[in-house]
Amino acid sequence: MITLGIESSCDETGIALYQMGRGLLAHALHTQVAMHSEYGGVVPELASRDHVRRVVPLIRQVMKQANATLDQIDAIAYTQGPGLGGALLVGASVASSLGFALDIPTIGIHHLEGHLLSPLLSDPAPEFPFVALLVSGGHTQLMRVDGVGRYQLLGETVDDAAGEAFDKSAKLLGLGYPGGPALAKLAESGRPGLYKLPRPMLHSDNLDFSFSGLKTAVLTLVRQNVLDEQTRADIACATQEAIVDVLARKARAALAQTGLAQLVVAGGVGANRLLRERLTRDIEKRGGRVFYPELEFCTDNGAMIAFAGALRLAEHQGTKDYRFDVKPRWNLQDITRHYAR
Ligand code: KG4
Ligand code: ZN
Repeated sequence: MITLGIESSCDETGIALYQMGRGLLAHALHTQVAMHSEYGGVVPELASRDHVRRVVPLIRQVMKQANATLDQIDAIAYTQGPGLGGALLVGASVASSLGFALDIPTIGIHHLEGHLLSPLLSDPAPEFPFVALLVSGGHTQLMRVDGVGRYQLLGETVDDAAGEAFDKSAKLLGLGYPGGPALAKLAESGRPGLYKLPRPMLHSDNLDFSFSGLKTAVLTLVRQNVLDEQTRADIACATQEAIVDVLARKARAALAQTGLAQLVVAGGVGANRLLRERLTRDIEKRGGRVFYPELEFCTDNGAMIAFAGALRLAEHQGTKDYRFDVKPRWNLQDITRHYAR
């Protein structure tokens, strides 16, 4: 059973072929980072147009890489949401027309479900149940995962996502887009502990997060100081410390609350080195274990969509009805409810 995966929810076109029992056969990615960086953020219309240009050549590239032909594909999975409407439509329409032409089922995948399951692509892989810390540009959530489609929200951000906090603080420090990796790099030459930034909701008795106050505190530091290279690095260091500290402590609390020992980290911010070091140290010290997707599958990619599609299709949830829609706003809880019915 071979599944073609198509990801086009934001600024990356990702294509992959996944075979049940064999694993990932091939994958390819085109990132639009260079194109959007001129504008300091993603321009939705440009994103859609670029997906249109890239998606078919990338499918050809992946087929060639896997030495496979189109008639060997058994199903097509595409990101149905959440994300940018126009960008999502590119993947959905290509998946549906190709599915129609090949007379094979298609399935729309929730982007965050892709992120959530991506650590299962690694070896060793976690086993259900586990706690997942989902940290991307748009989401910060702690979920209890009991199986494919069995997700329970434990806590989430009440305002900015962790990735957004990285990106917005980076912008204040004059760094380009995307800000997360740039801020992390600058922080390497910063001196830890020089500036103390707030850790909102750290001591609340729930597993929710808040990051908007951090951005305001960074803005205050930026205004109060002469921004030479060392000061910028020191502020970057304090910002990263604050975000990582909150994420790590809440993740630890989620494990304690659920009584589970495995933590899975997914989404772009999961590529952050300090976060990885801190989580591994804190959680392994307490007898737990932390799992990360391969670095290349932390940020958006087609592999996680092909993989999530393959798992879903193993439970017969594809369709040969080639009408399609996309869901730019789509709560992960909603697919859980759908699954439970
Ligand atoms: O999951 P993702 O690729 O896209 C979304 O679905 O949002 O996450 C992108 C986010 C951006 O905010 C980016 O700045 C952040 O992940 N990010 C990082 C790092 N790499 C990516 N943040 C901190 N450190 C990194 N190394
Ligand atoms: Zn993502």
